[in-house]
Amino acid sequence: MIRPRAHVDALAPVYHGSISDAELAGLGFRRDQVIDFSVNSNPLGPSPAAIAAVQAATWSHYPDDRATVLRGELACREGRGVEQVIVANGSSELIWLLATAFIDPGQSAVVVGPTFGEYARAVRIAGGVIHEHRATPEDQFTVDFVAIEALARDRRARIVFICNPNNPTGVLASIADIEALALKLPESLIVVDEAYRPFVDEPRSSLPLTELDNIVLLRSLTKDYALAGLRLGYALAASAVVDALDKVRPPWSVNVIAQIAGLAALGDEEHLRRGRDEVRRARAYVTEALSALELRVLPSAANYVLLDVGDAGMARSALLRHGIVVRDCTSFGLPNFIRVGLRTVQECERLVAACEAADLASIGAPQCGAVSGP
Ligand SMILES: Cc1ncc(COP(=O)(O)O)c(C=O)c1O
Repeated sequence: MIRPRAHVDALAPVYHGSISDAELAGLGFRRDQVIDFSVNSNPLGPSPAAIAAVQAATWSHYPDDRATVLRGELACREGRGVEQVIVANGSSELIWLLATAFIDPGQSAVVVGPTFGEYARAVRIAGGVIHEHRATPEDQFTVDFVAIEALARDRRARIVFICNPNNPTGVLASIADIEALALKLPESLIVVDEAYRPFVDEPRSSLPLTELDNIVLLRSLTKDYALAGLRLGYALAASAVVDALDKVRPPWSVNVIAQIAGLAALGDEEHLRRGRDEVRRARAYVTEALSALELRVLPSAANYVLLDVGDAGMARSALLRHGIVVRDCTSFGLPNFIRVGLRTVQECERLVAACEAADLASIGAPQCGAVSGP
């Protein structure tokens, strides 16, 4: 039997959470009978404009391989040249393209953990080596830029991945710190994954970062615009980086419907604003209500929060019995924590009721009350 390449054979699968139909059926639930707090998406769902555009779409033809209209629209909105924009089948495809284009076998990349697993997987598939600088709960997962710089220098990192705000911790690094890192590491590509940035209450734009040749901003339309099933993301970077990604991308990866829905969604800014407002209300409500139940809620800049529940597996199972799906963070190396994606305040009330009914606080949360942010 022919074997895959040795480093591929050795790869462990990356776990992405959510819940399978099989697990739901085992518990006697249909999908529409549970509320899924394990995903981090716009609580209002997709824009009605995107839904209407999809319903009217025809798709028997090949997509425009260069997504000309969509790229043009993104470039115009971001105030960048079209040669600085590349669209892809979700931002996860861009992570893979970056590793393919920039990592030779044996070369290094740095991740700031605990974080999204695809950075490490993409690098390892390219034959590269991952070095992790790990933030800790004791420091409220604060990102230590001095340590990251030292690690990247020491390992001659080709890429440093910074998820901002980070999944699953919700910690937001400052644009000034990222800029300083990029200036200190001109031989490394600093990839800033902004999948959840649209939900952050921060007036300062990260766009000026793209004036640096070694910065890549990754954006996803699957969270803020709730297009997860259609798959759409884009990157903003220097044109030389975009050219390199373009060379390794598979053809037609952004399908006709995703291009049409993306354009319609971008045109409905009001929908995104309402989703962001709902997230802000839900974050405040969940933090206060769960703290009152003596659960430890970590501060988050994003549209999800971490709860320290002592035993994530037990907490997830207990909530599932009440029709509530949350993300067990054991696969992030955080077996004490569950992650809760913020949904509408009304749905969050169901979450809080389930936490109370399941007596989540007694599962083993070590401290009480919300922890104030750095
Ligand atoms: C931090 C982060 N980046 C990227 C992605 C992938 O997003 P997309 O749906 O755009 O591929 C995810 C998905 O969960 C994520 O959490």
